[in-house]
Amino acid sequence: MKYFINTMGCKLNENDSEKIAGMLVEMGYEEASAPQDANIVVFNTCCIRENAEEKLFGKLGELKNIKAKNNMIICVGGCMSQEQHVVDKIKQSYNFVDVIFGTHNLHKLPEMIEQRIEENKKQIDVWDIDGIVVENLPIKRTSEKNALVTIMYGCNNFCSYCIVPYTRGRERSRKPEDILSEIKKLAADGYKEIMLLGQNVNSYNGGEGYNFANLLRDIDKIEGIDIVRFMSPHPKDFTDDVIDAIAESKSVCKVIHLPLQSGSSNVLKLMNRKYTKEHYLNLVDKIRAKVPDVYFTTDIIVGFPGETEEDFEETLDVVRKVDFEQVFMFIYSVRKGTAAEKMDGHIPEEIKSERFNRLKELADSMTTESIKKYVGTVQKVLVEGESKTNSDVLTGRTRSNRIVNFIGDRSLIGKEIDIEITSEHAWYLKGNVVID
Ligand code: SAH
Ligand code: SF4
Ligand code: F3S
Repeated sequence: MKYFINTMGCKLNENDSEKIAGMLVEMGYEEASAPQDANIVVFNTCCIRENAEEKLFGKLGELKNIKAKNNMIICVGGCMSQEQHVVDKIKQSYNFVDVIFGTHNLHKLPEMIEQRIEENKKQIDVWDIDGIVVENLPIKRTSEKNALVTIMYGCNNFCSYCIVPYTRGRERSRKPEDILSEIKKLAADGYKEIMLLGQNVNSYNGGEGYNFANLLRDIDKIEGIDIVRFMSPHPKDFTDDVIDAIAESKSVCKVIHLPLQSGSSNVLKLMNRKYTKEHYLNLVDKIRAKVPDVYFTTDIIVGFPGETEEDFEETLDVVRKVDFEQVFMFIYSVRKGTAAEKMDGHIPEEIKSERFNRLKELADSMTTESIKKYVGTVQKVLVEGESKTNSDVLTGRTRSNRIVNFIGDRSLIGKEIDIEITSEHAWYLKGNVVID
């Protein structure tokens, strides 16, 4: 018997899917390479933007005709299941879906599948209360090198455009000892790199004053973990304490994803982000002063209701000033039930995409330009393999995700080594192995 999981959305969903896989393996299922070969297909859905719904319904439609052949059980979970209109639509138009579960009762999936088999009856159970933090679920990780570690669930911020607080509930932090013992086990299993996950990691609250900075410091002491990344911090909660912990630690990666969303203080206010353009720029300067070799990446939404041409220019201004390594850009998408849905001044699609293109052009040119600052520096590079075009050359990536080509022995593949960058070539770097 085989299972197939289709994961949409963010890293939190990826980590949830690893737990779903762990539970299915414990039930005796094996992983299938395609949905048509599986007896259980699970859709772990995302609804951060509008187009995701059509994608899910399209995929469900594809399975309708092959379901009978494999005696297939189709399950839909994740953030979309927390939306009543999606559950209603599945019941009405995709009646062949067998199990609908939500983000708060992931751990109940095996039970629901068993009931579906025994009673031959559709199972729908979506909780609208915040789920408890369930520890020690089995897990089947997708990568053998870097592991995802969720440190907190939910979000309290209610950014006015965002659906997540409605689909994931309020913030709940895992206990520090549970997180640390998971990471120690990962180190013992040979993992070198971890990514700490949460919608707002720096509001992590481990109880009795134990905060995100404490957690970073304690993780830094764990032998064997060389790289610690985290996603996402919120600029309003980026305390000096967290900056110090990053600066002092050996393992915390000096690439920080710092979501901007907009460079206009007016729009930020409408977005309920609780910081201004100046606060954001000051924060970047403060981090750069304490962590000199830091790089930033960001998320930006264009075309938020009420965004004027001047507001948009402010966003471009921040992009120019900060010099991001990478900008993830999104066109504003209305989400049912959010505060922004009811705001005035929704922007016509053609203006949204025109602004998106202008932002993209700027971000792309900045990325090409900012590659120059690597020349002369020494970078930690994870060696991935031989270059596709020349087998004498090895290729790898810096911690900030830049490609580096260099001459080296194949035994370096899979290792993280120091490379001195000697030249830049528009989209990649060249360098030499640093010999101690
Ligand atoms: N918790 C993270 C974001 C998670 S969602 C944070 O606060 O930064 C990932 C990204 O999706 C967001 O940073 C935002 O840029 C984008 N996003 C969220 N809601 C959106 C919407 N309604 N329309 C367009 N983009 C959106
Ligand atoms: Fe959404 Fe804002 Fe929470 Fe991020 S911090 S998940 S953007 S509400
Ligand atoms: Fe999507 Fe839910 Fe993540 S809406 S982005 S899967 S928290």
